[in-house]
This record gives sequence, C-alpha cells and structure tokens, in this order.
Amino acid sequence: MADSMKALRYHGAKDLRVESVPIPELLPGQVKVKPEWCGICGTDLHEYITGPILTPAVGKPHRLTGCTVPLIMGHEFAGEIVELGPGVEPGRLKVGMKVCIEPALFDDTCPPCLDRRRNCCDRGGFFGLSGWGGGFSEYACLQEKLVHPLPDNVPTDIGALVEPLAVAWHALKAAGHTPDRSALIVGAGPIGLAVLFCLLARGCRQILISEVSPQRIKHALEIASSHPEVDIRVLDPTKEDVVVRAKELCSQGNQGPNVVYDCAGVQKSIDAAIGAVRKGGVVCNVAVWEKPPSIDMNALVFGEKKLIGVALYDEGDFQEVIEAISTGKIRNPEKLITAKVALDDAVTNGFEALLKSREHVKILVRP
Ligand SMILES: NC(=O)c1ccc[n+]([C@@H]2O[C@H](COP(=O)([O-])OP(=O)(O)OC[C@H]3O[C@@H](n4cnc5c(N)ncnc54)[C@H](O)[C@@H]3O)[C@@H](O)[C@H]2O)c1
Ligand SMILES: [Zn+2]
Repeated sequence: MADSMKALRYHGAKDLRVESVPIPELLPGQVKVKPEWCGICGTDLHEYITGPILTPAVGKPHRLTGCTVPLIMGHEFAGEIVELGPGVEPGRLKVGMKVCIEPALFDDTCPPCLDRRRNCCDRGGFFGLSGWGGGFSEYACLQEKLVHPLPDNVPTDIGALVEPLAVAWHALKAAGHTPDRSALIVGAGPIGLAVLFCLLARGCRQILISEVSPQRIKHALEIASSHPEVDIRVLDPTKEDVVVRAKELCSQGNQGPNVVYDCAGVQKSIDAAIGAVRKGGVVCNVAVWEKPPSIDMNALVFGEKKLIGVALYDEGDFQEVIEAISTGKIRNPEKLITAKVALDDAVTNGFEALLKSREHVKILVRP
C-alpha cells in the first residue's frame, strides 16, 4: 500500500483542493475505512461559500481535535473496513464489512455530555469538518464507536444517506411525532425530504410540504407519487397562503398541522411554521440560521405552541435508521440522490452544481 492518498481538502472559503496527502496512521481503538460514497451536505456548502463556520479559522486549532486547516472534508459517508487498529477485536466490526460513519465528535467530559446530551457538546465537532480526516478521501481512520455495520441489503451509496436521515429521525423523536399526527415540512431540500422519508416510515397519514423552488416541488411530488396511500400535498408559498391552506387541509376543524418542521431557516419559513401549527402543537426547528429571525412570541403564548430546536442525532438514532432502511420502512431513500461524481470532479460537478441550481438534492462523491 502506498503511503499517500488523494483527498479533498478545505483551505478556506471557495478554496477546495484535491491533493495528495499522507494516509492517516491507524491508532489504537480505531478502524481504517475505505470510503466508497460520501455526500455533499448543506453544511459543506456553507463552509465553501462563507466558511470557516464549523471548520477552524486559518491558524486556529479546533477546540476538540486541535487540528488546523487545511482539513479533509466529507462527513456523510459509508465504505468498507480495510483494517482494525490495535485493541479492536474482530466481532461487531470485521475487515471487509460495509459500514457507515456517525461523524459527530464530542469530548464526553463537558456538562452537556455528562447530562447525556452529547449532540450539544460544548466542544463538539465533526469528522470531515473539524479535523482527524474525512470522507472525501481514499482512507479514513475512526474511533470504533463512530463506525456502524450496514446489513447486506443496504449498499454504501444508501449508507451515505444515513447521516441526514438520522438528523430527520432525531427531529421526529424530539417532536414526539406519532402516526396519528399531521405534519407540515417547510423546505424540501435534502433535510426536509429526509423528514418526509422518516414520517412515511413512521406511518404518518397526512403530510404537507411547502417549497418555493419549482425543481424541488417537482422532486417532492415525485416522491409523493410513490406513496398514494398517504395524503401528501405540496404547497407553493409563492402562489398560495401556506398558513391558510395548511389550516384548511388539516382535518379536525381547520386547526392546522400538529407538528411543523422548519427545514428552510428563513424569516418567511418560521413565520409560516408558527402561523400554521395548531394550538398546542410543536414547531420543530431543524434549520441552522444565517441570521437570527424575529419570532411572534404572542402567537406561541396565546396558542400554547411549542418551539423546539434539534441538533444532529443521539445514541440509537443511527442504528434505528439503518434498521428502518434494511426492513423497508424507509422506502427508496435513493430518491434523494440526484447525481454521483468522481472525487476529481467534486468541486465543479458537486459543490458548484449544487450552488447553481435547486435541480439537485443530494450529490454523492466517489472518493
Ligand atoms: N439541526 C441539525 O442538526 C441540522 C443538520 C443538518 C442540516 N441542518 C440545516 O437544515 C436546513 C436544511 O438543510 P438542506 O440541506 O435541506 O438545505 P437546502 O438549502 O438545500 O434546503 C432548504 C429548502 O428550503 C426552501 N425554502 C427557502 N425558503 C422557503 C420558504 N419561505 N418556504 C418554503 N421553502 C423554502 C429552499 O428552496 C430549499 O429547497 C439547513 O439550514 C441546514 O443547515 C440542520
Ligand atoms: Zn461535551
């Protein structure tokens, strides 16, 4: 095996380079994985356009990993185990096994971590954004606990979708979503559509989706068409009043949906979410905000509406999503994938393509 490999590294905003870097050393307690597919996430795009946000600033070591830029990117990935490090006994993990990666890094010592909220770690980071390696590379060495086996019927391109699906899965759990509850998803990007797949997996019968982009409306309608048994409506806020329509469409006396997921993160989306949700209902904010919105607090007060935030995923979420895919509860998640590109073309046909048009949802890179 050569001692160098190809990887896509982040040097700063608008500066991603495919370059030759040393193969990482396999440390005790780690597993060496050969990534087969790695998705480009909205967060990667933010780093590319206006970073550093989660990536450390030039010359400033990350608070958890201590790493500085340039850093290998890619945190939504799956591949094959090629080597077990010292102290990792073949058992749950074996060489040759297909696996997906849970990329959230945490210190396990801060108060939120000790309070079993590792997804809110004070020093948290991401494998693929904060150092220690990433999925846009030929090899990655990871702590054993970050590696999850994929069943035989879950290929690695689907394995690369487990991470965004786990975000959505976690959001449904945090919102206390039960099948009898109606939902409105605001924003049908990869995360909004991941919420749709999870709602379908949980057996929800009434789902509204609000989206402004014609291409993404088309994509959402295509997914909806393969679930004729479920009442799925796609609304266009540029043509209709989403709050009025959501109240009309959600049964039981025009009360509006029980739960609204904000997966867009703009003033208009949170206004629609708070306006549409029924009294006593939950607005679950999944979006990460570029600037703080203004919130109609009295609408929350007089409607006893709950506004919650959700971050990443927690213990059990990855395993539950993998099982839901394997057992067919999450059906045809590959519909999220709109293109597959080579590592050498990741910037032009991946990052730039995603910025150019809403035609794409999830683009996977073959490292
Ligand atoms: N909480 C978490 O742990 C977590 C994890 C991953 C991503 N996120 C965040 O989730 C959000 C969604 O991610 P994504 O990758 O799907 O982003 P995206 O930008 O691809 O999708 C957002 C969608 O919202 C649509 N939109 C914009 N304004 C709208 C409006 N007024 N009404 C309806 N739709 C509107 C856009 O057309 C777009 O399709 C982002 O803010 C992202 O940072 C959060
Ligand atoms: Zn912590």
